[in-house]
Amino acid sequence: MSLKQNLYIVLLLVTTASHVVLSTVYPYCVEMLPSPLTTVGEGPVWDVDRQSLYYVDIIESAILRYDPAENRTYRATVDGAPSVTMIIMIQGNPDHFILGTGNKLSLVQWDGFSEKASLVRIVVDLGESESHVRFNDGKVDSQGRLYAGTMLREGANSSTPMVGKLYRFDERSGQLVVQLSGVGISNGITWNEKLRKFYYVDSLALNIKEYDIAANGDLYNEQILLNFPN
Ligand SMILES: *[C@@H]1O[C@H](CO)[C@@H](O)[C@H](O)[C@H]1NC(C)=O
Ligand SMILES: *[C@@H]1O[C@H](CO)[C@@H](O)[C@H](O)[C@H]1NC(C)=O
Repeated sequence: MSLKQNLYIVLLLVTTASHVVLSTVYPYCVEMLPSPLTTVGEGPVWDVDRQSLYYVDIIESAILRYDPAENRTYRATVDGAPSVTMIIMIQGNPDHFILGTGNKLSLVQWDGFSEKASLVRIVVDLGESESHVRFNDGKVDSQGRLYAGTMLREGANSSTPMVGKLYRFDERSGQLVVQLSGVGISNGITWNEKLRKFYYVDSLALNIKEYDIAANGDLYNEQILLNFPN
């Protein structure tokens, strides 16, 4: 996987915005973001306050910030992180982020400019029993609740890839609460606020699932919204 992929401006993938504006008149113009490029660029999230796009390079354990006003991309690596798979902003704390680092969630400090981000502390560690997985995608709902899932770690030994889980981070207890098990590659998460629905993609399942959300954030009433034929 040495080939560098280009990360494009893919506002369609930014899931914290409530709706995508789809022009029926003009085709989308795809434009490459300025270097540094990524090996596996993922998890774009838009920071309204800073007017910046954060994303990660999973394989290179890096976090990136694209500043459209400057048309410039800043990149930082995180020492000791086996992989960095999501970047989550923290309300009222613009230079701190939660990252998915291997099978842990870590709090790091980054000013958005430096080439190094520093580990503040491990927030959650899935531990030895989940050492064969790593975190993948994660997103925060409008109430500030983090949902994050796992997948089989590269190089891990398993007879089946369906060992991932989707978790909800419970702020009160500081623990992860399992929402789904038997997941292949825990991926895309988004919401419909009006319908109070949660949408979810397991990349190996070839469908989009829809859930209702209980008051405590637990997901229930799983439905298949869309099937994609193999
Ligand atoms: C931003 O920079 C990239 C690469 O340096 C360039 O291709 C692109 O045209 C620039 N975009 C704007 C809006 O200036
Ligand atoms: C994976 O498991 C098989 C069977 O248990 C074993 O032979 C092999 O050495 C293991 N590989 C690694 C990388 O642990």
